[in-house]
Amino acid sequence: MSEKVTFLDKTFVKYISSEEIDDAIARVASDIMLEYRYDDPIMLITLNGAIVFAVDLLKRLDFPCRITCVKLASYSGTESSGTINQLIGLSEDIRGKRILILEDIVDTGATYIHLHKMLTEAGAKDVRIATMTMKPDAYKADLPVHYVGINIPNKFVIGRGLDYDGYGRNLPDIYQVISE
Ligand code: IMP
Repeated sequence: MSEKVTFLDKTFVKYISSEEIDDAIARVASDIMLEYRYDDPIMLITLNGAIVFAVDLLKRLDFPCRITCVKLASYSGTESSGTINQLIGLSEDIRGKRILILEDIVDTGATYIHLHKMLTEAGAKDVRIATMTMKPDAYKADLPVHYVGINIPNKFVIGRGLDYDGYGRNLPDIYQVISE
């Protein structure tokens, strides 16, 4: 893959290699196995961004679990709008179940707070989160983030499921914006 990519008005430079991301996901998968292997948890994928991470992670989990999806949107271009729109809701009965949210990135934490509240109100026994990447400097929530693949600075990134107005999700490496 090339060192630089351009989508619409923005150029991005390669920032984290596919191999480094794979290693981080393997580490997160081992930690999740230790915690959940006897608990029959539900893995909750947040569409669309977390699909790529979820596929890479789930195939490494060698224990019974179920998968469900919700679709939320908070970003417009490279900025969080601060408002969470729920586009597809929860279709499963999750009462008494352990839920692990799978995210591509935790930024301000607004999406996580929204989901945590929704899942707790729906009767989940316990709600945790596993995220491929996290921006600790942007995080404003009090909730713990349990499993983090790679911490990154507070700059916009694409690749591995992360997008800029829908572009870049299919890039195997992560790219950082260079023209903001
Ligand atoms: P939060 O609600 O502020 O934590 O933001 C979470 C959501 O914002 C993620 O699921 C992404 O959809 C989006 N997001 C945050 N930072 C980035 C980024 O650097 N690139 C692409 N999407 C991002």
